[in-house]
Amino acid sequence: MTRSTRADAAKRLPAPILQVKDLQTQFLTHDGIVKAVDGVTFDLYPGESLGIVGESGSGKSMTALSLLRLVPDPGKIVGGQVLFRDQDLQQISDEEIRDIRGRDIAMIFQDPQSSLNPVLQTGFQIAEAMLAHKKATKQQARQRTVELLKRVRIPAAESRVKDYPHQLSGGMRQRAMIAMGLSNAPSILIADEPTTALDVTVQAQILELLADLNHELGTAIVMITHNMGVVAGLCTRVLVMYAGQIVEQGPVDQIFENPQHPYTWSLLRSIPRVDALRHERLRSIEGLAPDLLRPPAGCRFHPRCPFRIEKCLTDLPPLVEVKPDQLASCLDRAKKEMGADKLLDIRPGAASGLEPGKIIP
Ligand SMILES: Nc1ncnc2c1ncn2[C@@H]1O[C@H](COP(=O)(O)OP(=O)(O)OP(=O)(O)O)[C@@H](O)[C@H]1O
Ligand SMILES: [Mg+2]
Repeated sequence: MTRSTRADAAKRLPAPILQVKDLQTQFLTHDGIVKAVDGVTFDLYPGESLGIVGESGSGKSMTALSLLRLVPDPGKIVGGQVLFRDQDLQQISDEEIRDIRGRDIAMIFQDPQSSLNPVLQTGFQIAEAMLAHKKATKQQARQRTVELLKRVRIPAAESRVKDYPHQLSGGMRQRAMIAMGLSNAPSILIADEPTTALDVTVQAQILELLADLNHELGTAIVMITHNMGVVAGLCTRVLVMYAGQIVEQGPVDQIFENPQHPYTWSLLRSIPRVDALRHERLRSIEGLAPDLLRPPAGCRFHPRCPFRIEKCLTDLPPLVEVKPDQLASCLDRAKKEMGADKLLDIRPGAASGLEPGKIIP
């Protein structure tokens, strides 16, 4: 990209609302140090929907939990910065970070059962979330709870506020969690695998709801998932994580069309196709994700990489700009044939058999 076009692109982008710089989170275990998040750097822009994708154990949840200083013991954030509106969230007091959680940056988890208290009415818990941040009076909180339940499309919201969590279906509980997340009108909503426990139809409805809320309210959404199909349906930008590091990031359209890291390419190849012939088996990525106690030398993906060359075994690939706005860490992109023709195009509207909103888990 020339200097002037880059300047034009920069002019179009608003200032990031969140800047993560070289974030490092580790677990000190009996066997040694586990680098769960190992130098993660990215920006989040106001109102955007960013996907974080990667296999189990790649560090997605620990990245999200580190942002809000919620890493469980014996995990520790050992380096980096998290700037929210130019304030370093690693440096502020415990009280200040508590204020930011839920008020400015809300997080919803995979399993609403563990986040909703079973002995309290659902509506009461949502209202409490508002009162905790002193954003409303009791009366206002009660009224707004009903509005929120309607907004997340819970039918008969007026009577449902009195229901206990067990009286709601799995999908409704997840909607209630989203309502709670939105209760203080946060500028960022982090959703960590919020649909994994739900069946496919309900999953698609929840994703559609998140997409609508993202458009209607302008809340920036960080969607954590292991599923590229979810990224295709909801996100405009994506971070691909492997073994605690970002290996590729950029606009979803661009990356789906032309991935520049073999791991991204493998993830895209392993998406189920609706139009696949019955005998075609889903390709999975061969080999195992590395043990983060003893990650491989050189490129961490090299033991599983179909394109590796000699130097991948020893040299650490830097994350560099490979196209406008697209970064990838691979030493030998030039030789790879990872073009669009080799890939299934699953973007909404693409002629792949996957329709918008039809998300395959
Ligand atoms: N309590 C712990 N003790 C030691 N290591 C841990 C602990 N919790 C997490 N880790 C390490 O952190 C890494 C990243 O975990 P994380 O939960 O972020 O993965 P993830 O990408 O969210 O996976 P999943 O898709 O399964 O949720 C794990 O691979 C593991 O090595
Ligand atoms: Mg996780």
